[in-house]
Amino acid sequence: MKFLTKLIGSSCMVPVFIFGISAYERTRIKREPYDIFSPNLPEEFNGVKVVFLSDLHNARFGKENERLIRAIREKDPDYIFVGGDMFVAKPGMTTDIASSLLIKLAKEFPVICANGNHEFRMKIYRYIYGTQYDDYVLRLREAGITYLENKTITLERNGASIYLSGLEIGRIYYQRGVVEPMDDSYLELLLGKKKAKNFHILLAHNPVYFPEYADWGADLVLSGHNHGGLIRIPHFGGLISPQLRIFPEYDAGYYEKSGSRMIISRGLGTHTFHIRVHNQPELSVIRLYRMSSSEGSEGADEKIEQME
Ligand SMILES: [Fe+2]
Repeated sequence: MKFLTKLIGSSCMVPVFIFGISAYERTRIKREPYDIFSPNLPEEFNGVKVVFLSDLHNARFGKENERLIRAIREKDPDYIFVGGDMFVAKPGMTTDIASSLLIKLAKEFPVICANGNHEFRMKIYRYIYGTQYDDYVLRLREAGITYLENKTITLERNGASIYLSGLEIGRIYYQRGVVEPMDDSYLELLLGKKKAKNFHILLAHNPVYFPEYADWGADLVLSGHNHGGLIRIPHFGGLISPQLRIFPEYDAGYYEKSGSRMIISRGLGTHTFHIRVHNQPELSVIRLYRMSSSEGSEGADEKIEQME
């Protein structure tokens, strides 16, 4: 009987422990630095700094997100890219927290946004959300923010250019428990052919399709969606994805495939399961470096030293 009481007592402590840790971790922003080297990057973009935000899900870091804004300001980025899911698409939920943050940032930095599954859900289910999505995008565009819905733009510096696309894939690719195969031609259908040689960044919310993004030819994919897998277990990674995959292959951090690289942000907020264990909200800080194809990793190290 004593053993049973102890067992019940200790198993009750597990959720208390998880929610206690989560309550603390969810408020702690962690800056994650990434250095990307590419021979396709024009010299004029060497050392460019990008802050990447994803999956805010209406989270607030201080009043009016002032702690998050301060953390971004400290990094003084050349661009802010946004990977989607900035709010929660549920009836009655607001888009004001996300728009207020992005509009404030746009006063100081160029901000370029792409959609996640939550923005897309709000956009297509008009019988539920009315014009809430259109109003949100209009507010951002009026503040000078570039909004990419399956669209590609050119970023220019001193006469040189790179490409940036915001990908918006269908709801079928976000099903729970299923990874719907993506047809070879799907990305070309949405974005057209990748332009040969030019460095091309793809904002693609769902990281599951990294092999398809790599096949299309993206030099750098910026992704989110998985919230780091909620609970991160050392040596195993994130426990579960929003599509209910246990230990998903692409959960957080840096990946490479066929010359393409992907950075998956652990995101900033949570929804539905408000859990983060060993999984602090992420502010991704990405530096781009040109590396000629003849340079090895030694050359890369030298370049970092020169830039610092
Ligand atoms: Fe998502």
